[in-house]
Amino acid sequence: MEKRGKFITFEGCDGCGKSTQLRLLSEYLTNNNIPHIFTREPGGGKISEAIRDILLNGKNSEMTDECEALLYAASRVQHLSDRVEPALSEGKLVICDRYVDSSLAYQAHARGLGVDFVSKINAFALEKYLPDVTIFIDLTPEAAFLRKKGADADDRLEQAGMPFHKRVYEGYKQIAENEPERVACIDGNQTPAEIFKCVLQVLKEKGCL
Ligand code: TYD
Repeated sequence: MEKRGKFITFEGCDGCGKSTQLRLLSEYLTNNNIPHIFTREPGGGKISEAIRDILLNGKNSEMTDECEALLYAASRVQHLSDRVEPALSEGKLVICDRYVDSSLAYQAHARGLGVDFVSKINAFALEKYLPDVTIFIDLTPEAAFLRKKGADADDRLEQAGMPFHKRVYEGYKQIAENEPERVACIDGNQTPAEIFKCVLQVLKEKGCL
């Protein structure tokens, strides 16, 4: 039987530089012939991408916080079944752009739904599919928004305002503090090349590479 693959997630505030790191990691894994898949949340499959469209659509401004949290969880459970589980059981590395920590930072902390409610509706992920390693790119929303020159007007989440994004950041810091074994905090103020060096170091230390 194939050895089970490792599950790696990337987290951080909007505009923290995750996408650049994911691109660099993709090049590295391909160049080194390491079997892997890249995926993202919300999304990553037909049904999950359809849910993503509903979640991020700027026209859905009347969506309740509870509906939002449940849709993220619904997209997640489908995505785990469609993409994550099959790849892990084939022994592949699974690299996911955002996962359950996003729900804890955005919905539990920033929306104020609380950790109990969000943990409950995400129990399947927290109990059965906790990542082996989570890379948190630690960059404040102020620094992130300066870097990307403002929020995307069509993106419902990016339009939520600076106090919201500050709470997201605080949520992440709390998660990283509570789970230092799983969550690696990498200083997002460094150059992309320096950040990537740290990413590789963490993944090697954790036995993922
Ligand atoms: P996306 O455009 O993928 O943002 P980014 O490139 O910053 O990852 O949009 C995903 C948005 O959804 C982002 O603002 C974070 C938010 N989100 C949640 O609020 N809860 C969640 O559980 C997940 C997975 C994402």
